[in-house]
Amino acid sequence: MTETLSFADDTLILIDQTRLPAILETFECRTVEQVFDAILRLVVRGAPAIGIAAAYGVCLARDSSDKPSRDAYLKAIDRLAQSRPTAVNLFWALDRMRNVIASTDDDQRLPDSLLCEAKTIHDEDREMCRAIGRNGASLLEKSQCVLTHCNAGGLATSVWGTALAPIYHLYESGHTLKVFADETRPLLQGARLTAWELSQAGIPVTVLTDSMSGSLLRTGNVDAVIVGADRIAANGDVANKIGTYPLAILARYHNVPFYVAAPSSTFDPNLASGDLIPIEQRSRSEVAEPYGVTLVPPSADVMNPAFDVTPAELVSAIVTERGVVEQPNHEKLAKHFA
Ligand code: MRU
Repeated sequence: MTETLSFADDTLILIDQTRLPAILETFECRTVEQVFDAILRLVVRGAPAIGIAAAYGVCLARDSSDKPSRDAYLKAIDRLAQSRPTAVNLFWALDRMRNVIASTDDDQRLPDSLLCEAKTIHDEDREMCRAIGRNGASLLEKSQCVLTHCNAGGLATSVWGTALAPIYHLYESGHTLKVFADETRPLLQGARLTAWELSQAGIPVTVLTDSMSGSLLRTGNVDAVIVGADRIAANGDVANKIGTYPLAILARYHNVPFYVAAPSSTFDPNLASGDLIPIEQRSRSEVAEPYGVTLVPPSADVMNPAFDVTPAELVSAIVTERGVVEQPNHEKLAKHFA
């Protein structure tokens, strides 16, 4: 598996996900502003990956005399927190970095302590994805065909992914699932990224236009739907890529299980329900002029929310690094994460 991001010599190195699948190249960040820009433009994207990138981003902070300082680190945290609002992993990672600053008295030690914390966040993500793979495999081991939306694979995390982790786990143990990947308008993370990484791994993948999933579920060609999450509220409501909610309704209507795979860093116990999750609104141009081609007349308005919220009652189970929560609700999730 390709590592989505790495950090060496004061440089954050990202696979540039805006260029895939045509070009596999890296984007190097040496300043906080470059990391901010990379998160905003989705050079790095996916809830866990932006948390890790932001943590490393803090380590790049310098003051006006080009030196690391407590004040510069705190400013970097505030700046990076403004990059994208929905994925709680970003704020979770930045809070951990803020806690390191608060608990380190010696300013000389701060750079090393912060880098150590960023690396720990990165290492923990690898472990969590592996565990999600193991735990989720038990739900999919009898399936032949699964449907996923957006990209919740290795590219959205350090490596392995969340929704794709059980698929990789089963593949390693000799059971190859066939994957249907929604193209995922408007930025095509399913067509460009999920299809790319599964193909790299040798796992068969078929890309669907977003509007095809209903007829595919109706014809009985899908055994399970599995997606990732950007934020899970205390009651189990799930924010994920726009188009996830209608997919969950379709799955329920056709009696197909709808699974959500996410690490504990995606869980937000401070929000009672999904109605309180801030939904990122992205630019008109992503819908109206993708890749420079005008698809919408200038006089027409465009809506471009990046995420929607699926109510917990439509979720068959949430898979985390700790195990599986069937039919999630407030009580079960509180117990799971206690
Ligand atoms: O806008 P994106 O590409 O960052 O959206 C990503 C998703 O919606 C993923 O499904 C989610 O972050 C889970 S990633 C393991």
